[in-house]
Amino acid sequence: MTEHDLANSQLGSLSYDPAPESASIAHLRPSYGLFIDGAFTEASSHEQFATLNPSNETTLATVAQASSADVDRAVVAARRAYDTVWSKTTGAQRAKYLFRIARLIQERARELAVVETLDNGKPIRESRDIDIPLAAAHFFYYAGWADKLDHAGFGADPQPLGVAGQIIPWNFPLLMAAWKLAPALAAGNTCVLKPAETTPLSALILAEILQQAELPAGVVNIITGDGSTGAALVDHPDVDKIAFTGSTDVGRLIQQRVASSPKRLTLELGGKGANIVFEDAPIDEMIEGIIDGIFFNQGHVCCAGSRLLVQESVADEVLRRLVRRVEQLRVGDPLDKNTDVGAINSAAQLERIKELTAFGESEGATRYTSSCALPETGYWFAPTVFADVSQSHRIAREEIFGPVLSVLTFRTPEEAVAKANNTKYGLACGVWSEKGSRTLWVAERLRAGVIWANTYNRFDPTSPFGGVRESGFGREGGRHGLEAYLDV
Ligand code: NAI
Ligand code: MG
Repeated sequence: MTEHDLANSQLGSLSYDPAPESASIAHLRPSYGLFIDGAFTEASSHEQFATLNPSNETTLATVAQASSADVDRAVVAARRAYDTVWSKTTGAQRAKYLFRIARLIQERARELAVVETLDNGKPIRESRDIDIPLAAAHFFYYAGWADKLDHAGFGADPQPLGVAGQIIPWNFPLLMAAWKLAPALAAGNTCVLKPAETTPLSALILAEILQQAELPAGVVNIITGDGSTGAALVDHPDVDKIAFTGSTDVGRLIQQRVASSPKRLTLELGGKGANIVFEDAPIDEMIEGIIDGIFFNQGHVCCAGSRLLVQESVADEVLRRLVRRVEQLRVGDPLDKNTDVGAINSAAQLERIKELTAFGESEGATRYTSSCALPETGYWFAPTVFADVSQSHRIAREEIFGPVLSVLTFRTPEEAVAKANNTKYGLACGVWSEKGSRTLWVAERLRAGVIWANTYNRFDPTSPFGGVRESGFGREGGRHGLEAYLDV
């Protein structure tokens, strides 16, 4: 046993006491209505559905199912607010509201982090340190642009589009709401936002924050519901722009629906990101980067580094260390501050992950699954690595959207680029190497919207994010993110 192995086995035997954050910080109401024209109202059908805590399958609250009549009420409110108030405000006035919202998110950060973790299943460490601070940062960042649109590179006095319909997924609920609302409001649009059906709660707390910020009624409307609510928003004739983040299949459907209308569209869809590891990369950092790239947020990440491309000369060592590191990941109670991997967001998503990983085995890949104990109730999937994966395997081609890594090898930079680009997607890639010239050579040839060098899953409101090919089009974040909400 080497000294290193010894240190590691001792580490492995260390046990941690539970360190749970308190669920009672959440202050949830038993049921929520729709947030339309500045107030909570009942859905016209009075229909409610439950949102669960995926870590134990208990009901957290019920929320309203918005019908197309409710969608219409929300769009009418947004149009009125646009015509009578928001289009007449100055950029400096809009900035004032955005700064207020950002500060209120910070003030209620602990509560929002707990709500996000309860509703989504993600570890509190991530909601507390990443989701909520980044959501506030997006509002701060776009508050700064609101009175400087003349200088954003879109000509003098660029105009907003009008009413934006925004549909978001369940993997980063509050953060995706911030990515959509902050640039839209800064640019002078009004909004109708539809959160995902399994994670509506942080958006409803955001509605309370908008009231606290005294944002004029109707400027932001938040309507809960399933795919049919989203479809009604897409089809509404008085919506000027649709912004969607979610699956490629639904994105394709939406593109067809708006094709014959003058609506503007941006789509942020799936991915199958390649994390490319060269033999000269510093191995400890690289192992952490690979782990973060795929196991962050249970792998429910559109830009996840779900395909590891490792240079053949170091493949055995990387795989050995990776498997050992996976074994050390702490899987369990999302509210525990020591948890690395939380619950899978829904029964449906768990089923999808199981189905795709079963293909991995039947197609001949070698499976390593963490031996961690999984809780009895709730939706759980143990972190998994597949080695001996070939490009034709389904687990190398399809988005699994779970804690599952597929490992492929390459010999030359040319082969790495060819394999990385051999996908219908094009959202994100990572390159790990000591050599700057090689990193740049590879980065220039990768067909993806975002390329990280010696890091992964690093997000910043100043930096544009978005894809090419079946990962979608349009950018969110940075100066580029304004373009999606301006008539340019
Ligand atoms: P989804 O695309 O069905 O859901 C995303 C949002 O779209 C939700 O708010 C949903 O209510 C809404 N929606 C559903 N059907 C709609 C329609 N016809 N018109 C308008 N809006 C509609 O995603 P789902 O089913 O939750 O996940 C399926 C797969 O999609 C995942 O396994 C994953 O591979 C991928 N996905 C990718 C995401 C990303 O960030 N790129 C996020 C969520 C899922
Ligand atoms: Mg939920």
